[in-house]
Amino acid sequence: MTGIYDEAHDLGHPSMSAALEQEALDLLVEDATRSISTCESVNELDVLASTLRGKDAPLILARRSLGQVTDEAERKAAGARVGAAMDLVASALEARRGVLQERERRALLEADRLDLSEVVLDAVRLPVRRGHTHLVAQTRAALEDVFVAMGFEVAEGPEVETDWYNFEALNIPPGHPARDMYDTMYLDLGIPETALLRTHTSPTQIHLLEKAVAEGSLPVHAVMPGRCYRLDTPDARHLPVFHQIEGLVVDRDITFGDLAGVIETFTSAYFGPDIHSRLRPAYFPFTEPSAEFEITCTICRGEGCRTCSRTGWIELGGCGMVDPAVFDAVGIDPAKYSGFAFGFGIDRCAQMRHGIADMRALIENDLRFVRQF
Ligand code: DAH
Repeated sequence: MTGIYDEAHDLGHPSMSAALEQEALDLLVEDATRSISTCESVNELDVLASTLRGKDAPLILARRSLGQVTDEAERKAAGARVGAAMDLVASALEARRGVLQERERRALLEADRLDLSEVVLDAVRLPVRRGHTHLVAQTRAALEDVFVAMGFEVAEGPEVETDWYNFEALNIPPGHPARDMYDTMYLDLGIPETALLRTHTSPTQIHLLEKAVAEGSLPVHAVMPGRCYRLDTPDARHLPVFHQIEGLVVDRDITFGDLAGVIETFTSAYFGPDIHSRLRPAYFPFTEPSAEFEITCTICRGEGCRTCSRTGWIELGGCGMVDPAVFDAVGIDPAKYSGFAFGFGIDRCAQMRHGIADMRALIENDLRFVRQF
């Protein structure tokens, strides 16, 4: 390989070949290490390793020449130098083997890897777009956020109710004229009670109060969002399946002023600081006194326009002080507790806040509409 051996053999030494000198051994080690570091595969390294251990390998030859060193002490010292040189080469081989093995292992894993990042294509082979929550769901979440920030809890009730929860406990007895505005689907569940798709979220008030009485956990401060059903013909302002959010506070010394304050705070927080609320006398069987609450028309900001019939106000929902008959139905003493309730349409809120002319757009699933929100 290198010329050193030939030289060593040729030159000779009084007692020892030049190949056994430290300098010569260093060169051999350097030479072998350089060859080792240029190996790019375990196979290639194996071939080199057997050459380096072969009978013609310079270090092997050097070891063999030890026998010719006559001086005992010198032979020992030279032997130690050759051994050390051979150890250096062996560890260089071992280190390189480790590097190459790891590299080959990684390459194998990489070749084996499953590519899960495949892009899903739609019918016209464009990447499928990621969806988002529907405007009504976004509106519900935004309303919940406003009320949670005001200290309300969020509760839910069933969409299938019995006559008791939807009507009677809310002071709407059979035959009461108020039932006329709540026509819905009646269900045959094979139970003695009349079952129906709830016409409003107010029955959740009853569930909540019953639970609070049973657990002794009054007071109640809660909002109750959810889906409601009525046999309404869809038009620009009505859907037969729609959403409401109900509010209920039952505590000691609750006044109509508390109700008005909560409605006003909510209105400005949700619609913006220039939108306000007002209460106008109304009738609901489950509140006394009752009111309709109106907010500044969001289309004309109170100037008066076609949408608000030039009044500058738009009705959003109903509210009032919890009727003693409701407290009676759930077993709460109206002398100890008082409360207020309110309810309004979530879809109607979305319509007003985003200026949606026709509410039917919310359920038609026209992507040009849906993607705007
Ligand atoms: N439940 C009524 C409806 O759907 C709205 C309503 C009015 C809810 C007055 C209330 C309330 O909580 O106090 O028409």
